[in-house]
Amino acid sequence: MILAKNIHKYYGDLHVLKGLDLHIEKSEIVSIVGASGAGKTTLLQILGTLDKPQKDKDSTLQINNIDIYGLSSKELSKFRNKNIGFIFQFHQLLPEFTAIENICIPAFIQNMPKKKAELRATELLGFLGLQNRARHKPGELSGGEQQRIAVARALINNPAVIFADEPSGNLDTESAENLHRLFFKLRDEFQQTFVIVTHNEELADMADRKIIMQDGMIIDKKEI
Ligand SMILES: Nc1ncnc2c1ncn2[C@@H]1O[C@H](COP(=O)(O)OP(=O)(O)OP(=O)(O)O)[C@@H](O)[C@H]1O
Ligand SMILES: [Mg+2]
Repeated sequence: MILAKNIHKYYGDLHVLKGLDLHIEKSEIVSIVGASGAGKTTLLQILGTLDKPQKDKDSTLQINNIDIYGLSSKELSKFRNKNIGFIFQFHQLLPEFTAIENICIPAFIQNMPKKKAELRATELLGFLGLQNRARHKPGELSGGEQQRIAVARALINNPAVIFADEPSGNLDTESAENLHRLFFKLRDEFQQTFVIVTHNEELADMADRKIIMQDGMIIDKKEI
């Protein structure tokens, strides 16, 4: 599903990622942990195709058997919208739009007809227990609800993989546990693949595989 080889990244003189190799299978839930500054977000942004590794290092990234660095920037935007979902620590919902409108945005970018997108969004809202919140704006929702709306937005195009960076970092314990359970339910029911950066040890240990990063390197790939 995801194959990354020799991923290097520099910010100026700072060598942030030092030649990482990674292989992630379909329907796997992989957690990435490590101290602040270890390079977790940088790696996730590169795997999520939002950022690129160092050119001269001959890096490879394949997602769904597509060679990412062989795509033009237009093809890449299209690929990303179709195949990759993101969940961030702060939900990044658009405040002026309702929950259902926020969920539909990635589908509209794919040119999915409005009716079809809304139907799919409504299904997802039902699955997430939020059917009564469809017409609310983010400011009228709790933190846990906002984050579940962000999950629905990540899911609307049936992405091959969802990348999450500290998805429960801003939630209380109960909402965090609900969100974590939801990830596993989505994996069990829809074979959804997840790569999750987290400081939450419980979530990290629930994963099929925990990858530990230190100083821009993977120091341990522990099978759980
Ligand atoms: N745009 C940037 N420009 C310069 N340096 C950067 C940039 N982004 C990140 N860095 C540096 O790269 C290193 C890795 O950052 P990264 O955000 O990947 O860490 P992280 O493991 O996600 O940390 P945290 O757990 O605090 O989120 C840090 O030293 C950071 O200061
Ligand atoms: Mg980070």
